[in-house]
Amino acid sequence: MIQFILNEKTIATNLPPGMVMLDFIRYHQHLTGTKIGCREGDCGACTILVGEIANGEMHYQSMTSCLMPIGNAAGKHIVSIEGINFADELNPIQQAMADEGATQCGFCTPGFVMSLAGYCLSSTEPNQQIAIEAIDGNICRCTGYKPIERAAGKVATILKEREGEEVTAFVTRKKILPGYFNSIKDKLVLMREEAIRTQDPELRTFLVGGGTDLYVQQHAAITNADIRFVFDHPELNGIRNEGKKCFLGSSVTVSDLKASPIINEAFPDFQEVAKLISSTPIRNMATIAGNFINASPIGDFTIFFLALDAQLILSDGNTTRELPLRKLYKGYKLLDKKPEEHIEQIWFELPEKNSYFHFEKVSKRTHLDIASVNSAIHLKMNGDSVIEASLSAGGVGPVPMFLQKTSAFFTGKKINDQLIGEAIEVMKTEISPISDARGSKEYKTLLLGQLIKVHFIERRLL
Ligand SMILES: Cc1cc2nc3c(=O)[nH]c(=O)nc-3n(C[C@H](O)[C@H](O)[C@H](O)COP(=O)(O)OP(=O)(O)OC[C@H]3O[C@@H](n4cnc5c(N)ncnc54)[C@H](O)[C@@H]3O)c2cc1C
Ligand code: FES
Ligand code: FES
Repeated sequence: MIQFILNEKTIATNLPPGMVMLDFIRYHQHLTGTKIGCREGDCGACTILVGEIANGEMHYQSMTSCLMPIGNAAGKHIVSIEGINFADELNPIQQAMADEGATQCGFCTPGFVMSLAGYCLSSTEPNQQIAIEAIDGNICRCTGYKPIERAAGKVATILKEREGEEVTAFVTRKKILPGYFNSIKDKLVLMREEAIRTQDPELRTFLVGGGTDLYVQQHAAITNADIRFVFDHPELNGIRNEGKKCFLGSSVTVSDLKASPIINEAFPDFQEVAKLISSTPIRNMATIAGNFINASPIGDFTIFFLALDAQLILSDGNTTRELPLRKLYKGYKLLDKKPEEHIEQIWFELPEKNSYFHFEKVSKRTHLDIASVNSAIHLKMNGDSVIEASLSAGGVGPVPMFLQKTSAFFTGKKINDQLIGEAIEVMKTEISPISDARGSKEYKTLLLGQLIKVHFIERRLL
């Protein structure tokens, strides 16, 4: 039995937990305002809000309902476009879209409105740029983006009046969202404990994190399967440091990393890095462990954490073992992991003062695209000499690669143009790119060489 609140209604259902929320909303609740576009997380037509209690407060995030299993809704508030309507008038978000001519066929409009509603429920800055970032996962095929951007700007202007008022109290008082939002937290308090307790830890046919890879690749197989959810497990959450070590629960999402003071202090340009990865709703769902286990040769966080020499704590439910991420990949999608094992935690050493870290990604489109080639470097330095280098690269082999030979080549050497040129020659001996839709093997080799140079230039070491 899965329990959650959909708009104002309490739901308790025995439907398969692997069914996606989009199908539940449209076909079982007959709420057809949420649209089906790509079913792959790319278009945003199916955007909903997912609210849960975090640190005693309601916290809402936009998610793509086409990739979200209803099992991941247990104990939460799910909001569809019908849940933000007023009976007899448009809310200010809808009004702004209408006034600015930001809708034509209207197919994408519910998704845009939901993403902007999510922005209104967040405590981020009220300015047009941030409002536009909130709709980075929504595609419109007919209106053109300028009217939509202007509507987003209008919404941001309304939020300027908030001035420290609690978010839900403000949005309901200003009639941006209906008053029932104020009663949701109390209803969830009891339900949440019950909802989490009823998850069966023995089910393990499929282990699902945020579902953003699994539902794109194996939708039909998962829908009716026995699923074990790791997304919300309290022990698998959280980011903490112990001395120099940083621990991540395996269900930590990209958005959790973005919001973490520990991560932002250790990686000052992390906000820029995160913007290159998927879109707001996908970042709200995508876990780091899911990125590692999906084993895509271009997984962005896999490349990021390979350079940091991240360690995985794997558990089979009875025993745990530690495995360097660098040893996880044995061949294309072939892992050093037993089927019954899951990642419980990930840890890595936070970069020290004498060290430099940098990540680069090149894709055909700057945003919402997977990498042609990506790369990260972690350098420990003594003056201008390298004590230790860790270089990783994606898109240049069958697995996400730690470039062992190239990394070792840097040890004890002073950085200059000639050294980088020689390192690039070493790099060429350990990669095996193939030509595909993302570029020819020659292009990818050249590109990785350029990215290696960029690492040093960006960190002002060259
Ligand atoms: C529109 C879109 C854009 C995307 N853009 C990017 C991008 O720019 N860069 C990028 O790198 N990726 C991108 N992705 C891919 C995806 O979002 C990431 O790989 C994400 O990190 C996967 O995490 P998840 O929790 O959703 O994984 P899931 O789909 O839940 O799971 C993926 C795999 O990991 C396993 N798994 C999950 N959690 C655990 C665990 N704790 N222990 C063991 N196994 C586990 C699952 O069984 C499954 O095999 C994109 C996806 C979409 C749909
Ligand atoms: S239908 Fe396109 S993102 Fe869900
Ligand atoms: S209004 Fe038609 S797709 Fe956006």
